[in-house]
Amino acid sequence: MSSTAGQVIKCRAAVAWEAGKPLVIEEVEVAPPQANEVRVKILFTSLCHTDVYFWEAKGQTPLFPRIFGHEAGGIVESVGEGVTDLKPGDHVLPVFTGECKECRHCKSEESNMCDLLRINTDRGVMLSDGKTRFSKNGQPIYHFVGTSTFSEYTVIHVGCLAKINPAAPLDKVCLLSCGISTGLGATLNVAKPKKGQSVAVFGLGAVGLAAAEGARIAGASRIIGVDLNSSHFEQAKKFGVTEFVNPKDHDKPVQQVLAEMTDGGVDRAVECTGSIQAMISAFECVHDGWGVAVLVGVPNKDDSFMTHPMNLLNERTLKGTFFGNYKPRTDIPDVVEKYMNKELELDKFITHAVTFSEINKAFEYMLHGKSIRCIIRMDA
Ligand SMILES: NC(=O)c1ccc[n+]([C@@H]2O[C@H](COP(=O)([O-])OP(=O)(O)OC[C@H]3O[C@@H](n4cnc5c(N)ncnc54)[C@H](O)[C@@H]3O)[C@@H](O)[C@H]2O)c1
Ligand SMILES: [Zn+2]
Ligand SMILES: [Zn+2]
Repeated sequence: MSSTAGQVIKCRAAVAWEAGKPLVIEEVEVAPPQANEVRVKILFTSLCHTDVYFWEAKGQTPLFPRIFGHEAGGIVESVGEGVTDLKPGDHVLPVFTGECKECRHCKSEESNMCDLLRINTDRGVMLSDGKTRFSKNGQPIYHFVGTSTFSEYTVIHVGCLAKINPAAPLDKVCLLSCGISTGLGATLNVAKPKKGQSVAVFGLGAVGLAAAEGARIAGASRIIGVDLNSSHFEQAKKFGVTEFVNPKDHDKPVQQVLAEMTDGGVDRAVECTGSIQAMISAFECVHDGWGVAVLVGVPNKDDSFMTHPMNLLNERTLKGTFFGNYKPRTDIPDVVEKYMNKELELDKFITHAVTFSEINKAFEYMLHGKSIRCIIRMDA
């Protein structure tokens, strides 16, 4: 047992006091884990668009003060009652969506949409007692997607922690906590291209580049990157993207451009933009008879998908995926192994690194589109 087990821990956390205002490094109190909870020492975390989106709080009811952060790697400090799967010292990746292993979804081989621990961006408290484990001078500080990794210590439901190989470097594999697994799984688990097939990837941000990495691993012969921002093309070459299309360079719909490039359509398309137009194009650019399109991007609230039903009757398949269809506890340890045996490349996603005290710089890099991923070191 660690010497801090059962005690309140005082540590540094980056607190968002108000929407859109720089985070402030504060000393906070982190309560011990309750039943089915685990307290984790975070060693590395990185910033994802979802943190920025909820920090800006433009589209949702604001919930502040809050500790953001959901892509991270850490070590178990102590466990609450009833936790048998994890013990102090285990290396873990927190995941914003969980796996209780008991519900219909967890028991189904086909789903990772756990009834109990599915992502809930509105909840700022722990499930068991509706309270926060963070406070400062008695004032509660809200959690974010059950992970709140912008803190040296955090409390997480055991179902939202993947136990991984302790030999895996946490400063790299922390990326598998969210965006990279999402794009990778969208290709490998859902689009499932066969060796030698063509894959179009719409959107060349971190998620799209991870989808391209999946296509490279699957042995795709052509990986066609589609983005409205041509400045992403150079960087995407490192991810195996072989050809580029900017819809703005053409006066016909991009699905037609792709069909002409590929003798009737690509075999697989993975949409990673959040743009409804790109979603429709991604579906309509796949080959009839066998083409599969996978939607990953999160659309705007009022969007609706429109296509002629004939496009489906002509034997095209449209699918959507959440966290790349990976079950966090069951599957993420194996994705870490893919990195360990050099099948999966992660280092190329890391464009920046900052110390915890410089965390606001990571926001700047992302807001200005400079970074794919920026690693934040908690001990510095
Ligand atoms: N389904 C899930 O589980 C899941 C998980 C994480 C992220 N996401 C979503 O995935 C999407 C991508 O995330 P990201 O972090 O890579 O975002 P990002 O903003 O870094 O990248 C999106 C890219 O799409 C491009 N783009 C926008 N509209 C386009 C269009 N009409 N045609 C072609 N390209 C276009 C942009 O120029 C940009 O390069 C987001 O919508 C995000 O919310 C989904
Ligand atoms: Zn994320
Ligand atoms: Zn479940």
